[in-house]
Amino acid sequence: MKTEIQLDRLAKYYMKAIVFTKYGTPDVLELKEIDKPIPKENEVLIKVYAVSVNDWDLGLLQGGDLINRLINGLFKPKIKILGSDIAGRIEAVGKNVKKFQHGDEVYGDLSGSWGGFAENVCARENKLTLKPSSMSFEEAAAIPQAAMLAIQGLRDKGQIQSGQKLLINGAGGGVGTFAVQIAKLYGVEVTGVDSSGKLDMMRSMGFDHVIDYKQEDFTKNGQHYDLILDVKMNRSIFDYTRVLNRNGIYVIIGGSMVRLLQALFLRTWISMISKKKICFVALKSNKDLDYMNELFETGKVKPVIDGHYMMDEVPKALRHFGEGVHKGKVVITVETNYNI
Ligand SMILES: NC(=O)c1ccc[n+]([C@@H]2O[C@H](COP(=O)([O-])OP(=O)(O)OC[C@H]3O[C@@H](n4cnc5c(N)ncnc54)[C@H](OP(=O)(O)O)[C@@H]3O)[C@@H](O)[C@H]2O)c1
Repeated sequence: MKTEIQLDRLAKYYMKAIVFTKYGTPDVLELKEIDKPIPKENEVLIKVYAVSVNDWDLGLLQGGDLINRLINGLFKPKIKILGSDIAGRIEAVGKNVKKFQHGDEVYGDLSGSWGGFAENVCARENKLTLKPSSMSFEEAAAIPQAAMLAIQGLRDKGQIQSGQKLLINGAGGGVGTFAVQIAKLYGVEVTGVDSSGKLDMMRSMGFDHVIDYKQEDFTKNGQHYDLILDVKMNRSIFDYTRVLNRNGIYVIIGGSMVRLLQALFLRTWISMISKKKICFVALKSNKDLDYMNELFETGKVKPVIDGHYMMDEVPKALRHFGEGVHKGKVVITVETNYNI
């Protein structure tokens, strides 16, 4: 990775950022000094202290599939700075901003505008919420996308109820580690499926049963569930619905495009003949951050954080995320001096 930082420049006008100008692996990322963004009238300027990695960061960087290219430029990326789940302090406020003031500690998901792998980023106020003082910046940065997907998947789409049997597929990453904690508040029995290296951590998070997907196929072991939350849809829709109890709900958060399309086309027909429901989560960014604050402050939910990466290690953090070996959320510390 190239370093092009002019140390003699004034921090007031310039910032360090992890920039990408072409699609590729994390090796194409460069740490650069660039102009600091200026907030519009309805935006705030945030001093970023921590940012976490999401699936979209890697997808947009690789430009691997057509959907990512349509979002971010067919041949070269329109977005130059990735990173969406940020936590930091407000440094400047646009004149139409009502909710926040200079110095407020905030966090939120900036997906759509991105820019979080940088010392500063601008954001509309509706993308942010106040960070509780007991929550670290790293914990805050871990929350937005993964926790929203977990809450909206279990509560809004899954209609989770006490006494149910729940299975989470892809349970040891960001969404799964929030989902198990939220599910436990409803008094359900939770099974988690992931790779062997994550099973001890998953047990310690409260999973009642864990399954190593390389050793056991949960769709063929005779167990049935009332609710399945799937982060990694990688099987035929018929496999999932077969292990659902009558009136069970299968909630899809993400997975293989082919499998997702199959589920989309067949779901009405399957629901009609089997009395089992198939739902997709369409993320409502930041919608439940205040609820997450409540859960955090009452000690009911705590983010699981993988690694201590600094800003110049964003490529390393993305590589680690891409290998799939991370536990919970991969978080990058952008700044440790909270007085600036
Ligand atoms: N619906 C929406 O609006 C929306 C919005 C944003 C993101 N998303 C989706 O949300 C998901 C992100 O979830 P996340 O942050 O929790 O991801 P994550 O941190 O990468 O976790 C996924 C977990 O699945 C495991 N896994 C891989 N292959 C598996 C298999 N065959 N069976 C079971 N587990 C497997 C991975 O571990 P190993 O690799 O070690 O096996 C990893 O622990 C993505 O699918 C993304 O596309 C959806």
